[in-house]
Order: sequence, then structure tokens, then C-alpha cells
Amino acid sequence: MKNFRLINGTEIPAIGLGTWQTPDGETAVKAVSHAIKCGYRHVDAAAVYDNEKSVGEGIRKGLQEAGLKREELFVTSKVWNTERGYDRTMRAFEKTVGDLGLNYLDLYLIHWPANAKQFADWQKLNAETWRAMEELYKAGRIRSIGVSNFYAHHLEALMQGAEVMPMVNQIEFHPGFMQKEVVDFCHQHDILVEAWSPLGTGKMLSNETLLSVADKYGCSVAQLCVRWVLQNGVLPLPKSITPSRIEENLDVDGFTISDADMATINAMEYCGGSGLNADEVDF
Ligand code: A2P
Repeated sequence: MKNFRLINGTEIPAIGLGTWQTPDGETAVKAVSHAIKCGYRHVDAAAVYDNEKSVGEGIRKGLQEAGLKREELFVTSKVWNTERGYDRTMRAFEKTVGDLGLNYLDLYLIHWPANAKQFADWQKLNAETWRAMEELYKAGRIRSIGVSNFYAHHLEALMQGAEVMPMVNQIEFHPGFMQKEVVDFCHQHDILVEAWSPLGTGKMLSNETLLSVADKYGCSVAQLCVRWVLQNGVLPLPKSITPSRIEENLDVDGFTISDADMATINAMEYCGGSGLNADEVDF
């Protein structure tokens, strides 16, 4: 599998397994271990998904059964909104690595920006969370650090006071929801964009436009979406708990979407997904 390279030189496998909405327990263990055995080298987790112990067990099982070392897998997690600030972030990090059963993370993200709707001092709160991330990064506990669901103005404020620049921004990204402004900002600042819900939480799968384009390439709509994300220079994180789908979502090297078809998909109107606005959310 190909890699993206982060601004600090870290290589990050170009497709990762999403684990949001993956039920805790045996389902998560099986999904993650199956993914590793069938070729995934990148797992995207988060404390708030409430399944990190099982994801960790799936990682250990998958690595062992595939005969791989920990260093051969890229693992991401995220600090949840209730844990913002320096001290809480430090504690949240230790809880997450403990739950996952790891002693370092490849990438740690601020899950959502503190926003102006909830916090008069949102810039300061994000800066304090970031200071903890920087310290963990400098101490070698995290190989790269970034954010999630940040808009350009959240990033600009964070970068003003930062010593280490964010290397990744993970956002909702799928046909009909391309978030062009923030993607352009990230690409201009060498911040890798990752796509959560590249299938629009599954809502893309019955879209007529996508079905007809997929038909041309003899691929599934899920494969078309994953490939389309990659061809936009964004890293897809498709979630599945179904072995055949987990395999299918990684198998996207056999075709290239033409410029004309990219333009058609890029022009699609919003047609489902989560559609959350980071300035409006109150969680
Ligand atoms: P499941 O996990 O039951 O296999 P997203 O990554 O955009 O959040 O989408 C996840 C949703 O899409 C889940 O409901 C998942 O179902 C479904 N899904 C993932 N991959 C495929 C696929 N290749 N074909 C059909 N549905 C898929």
C-alpha cells in the first residue's frame, strides 16, 4: 500500500480502517484483526468511540497472526472534548494508550476544536490542549500530532501560538461534502487531510450518480468513493465490520477515475452524511 508523508517525514499508510460506530467487544476485535491480516497497516481510533480496549486487542491479535511488529502499524487516537486543556489531555493520552495496550501512538489528534459558541476563550483552550500534544510529541510518546474537524480559522488561531505545527486535519469528506475551504487551507500549509466517513456513513452507496460512475469502472460505490478521496489528495478512513467489505475498501489500485468523472463527482450536491458544523456543535 502507498503512503502519504507528513511534514515531519512520518510515513502514513494511504488507507486506514475507521472504527467509529464499531461496536465494542468481539466485533471490534474481529474487524481490526481481520483488517491487519488482509493488508491494512493503519487503524484510526478515538477515546469517545468507547471501544479502544477491543481495538487494542484486535491490534495485538492481528499483528500476531500476520507476523508483524508494532512498528509496522500506524495507530491514531484522539483526545475527546471533555478532556481539553493541558492536564486533562495528558491524562486522556495515558488512558488511551493504556486502553489500546500501546506505549506510543503514531498520531494523536484534538477531536474537535473548542468553538466560540461554547467558550469565550476557545483559542486559549485549544492552545492549552495543543501544548500537551506538543510535549508528548517532543517526549517521543507520539510520532505525529494534529487536529480533527478544525476549520481554517481554528487552525490559524492554533498555529499562531504553536511550536510544532499540526500535521494532520481529519474532517468529514465524501461526495457532496468536500469542505473545500479548509481542504485548500490545509494543502497550502502542508497539513494532510484525512477523510472520516468517506462513504458518508454509508449514505453514498445508493446514490444514482455514483452508481452509474462505479458501473463504468466495474467497481463498487464504496471503492469508487475510496479511490475518489485518494485522487483528491486526501487519506480515506472507511469503516466496516464486515470482512468482505473491509477487504473491498482496500482494493482500489486496479482503476483510475478519469478527470471528467472526478469533475462530475466533485460537483455533486450534498446528498447525506453527518454534515456537522464545527462552529455550531455543542458537544
Ligand atoms: P458495516 O460496518 O456494517 O460493514 P463510513 O466509513 O462513511 O462511515 O461508512 C460506514 C458504513 O458503510 C457502515 O455502515 C458500513 O457497514 C458501510 N460500508 C463500509 N464499507 C462498505 C462496502 N464496501 N460496501 C457496503 N457498505 C459498506
